Amino acid sequence: MRITINQIKQMKQKGEKITMLTAYDYSTARIIDEVGIPLILVGDSLGMVVLGYESTIPVTIDEMLHHTKAVVRGTRQTMVIGDMPFMTYHVSIEDALRNAARFIQEAGAQAVKLEGGVTVAEKVRRVVDCGIPVMGHIGLTPQSIHQLGGYKVQGKTPEAAARLLEDARVLEQAGAFAIVLETVPAPLAALITKSVSIPTIGIGAGIGCDGQVQVINDILGSFTDFVPRHAKQYAKLADIIRAAITEYDREVKAGSFPTEEQSFSMDESILAKLTEAKSPLFSPQSKES
Ligand code: KIV
Repeated sequence: MRITINQIKQMKQKGEKITMLTAYDYSTARIIDEVGIPLILVGDSLGMVVLGYESTIPVTIDEMLHHTKAVVRGTRQTMVIGDMPFMTYHVSIEDALRNAARFIQEAGAQAVKLEGGVTVAEKVRRVVDCGIPVMGHIGLTPQSIHQLGGYKVQGKTPEAAARLLEDARVLEQAGAFAIVLETVPAPLAALITKSVSIPTIGIGAGIGCDGQVQVINDILGSFTDFVPRHAKQYAKLADIIRAAITEYDREVKAGSFPTEEQSFSMDESILAKLTEAKSPLFSPQSKES
């Protein structure tokens, strides 16, 4: 049985911290599910850490659906949230409904996430009215990176802080079941967390949030183009992968891989028959040339 949005909301009421991680493929999703992490976000960060784009902006809905399907196949208990990519919910309510539905109906996700506060509230309400759980996302919203002028801490002025508080309240009223707070000063994130009844999930938003989300490649140290300040590396996978690949390359070149352990034998008599001088099945190179 998968985690439900009611269980996630109850975790806030009980004061239980909520862990969320991104995943983009079957094998990683399986491990996260086995560990018992309640929420997986198939984030559009996949554009950078998996597809090698410079930002999340080029990511298409078809790319998102492809990876969401793989993550859903790898999970049994974890709730899978599909991240709606740039311009798939901005133009019209119809677009928002149709594209949110694709995550649920085609990819098998249980919820969607979209970026923005007051400006997307009506769309959030309409998607929720269709029976699709929505996670909000405010603060640093990477799909608006050109408008924001870079990956900067948000909500630092009194006006900007008040706007974020208002965004969070409006998302709650619109029916969002949780809100991601990205790159927001810790005291402001703590205030927002106290001001809404739905869980806040922080990334670069301090310890006062109800939960935390990280990009899996950042905490595993497998994405090395840059390491965000908010990320802690719990492993250095890039070093482990590099060492393993180097060793494989060395063994192939030295002729020490594969050994018998990685090879398959066959009945000697079949081989003898095949290589008999008169066998029609065998014509050695030397005779042909
Ligand atoms: O795309 C993503 O991975 C995200 C998280 C960083 C919240 O939006």
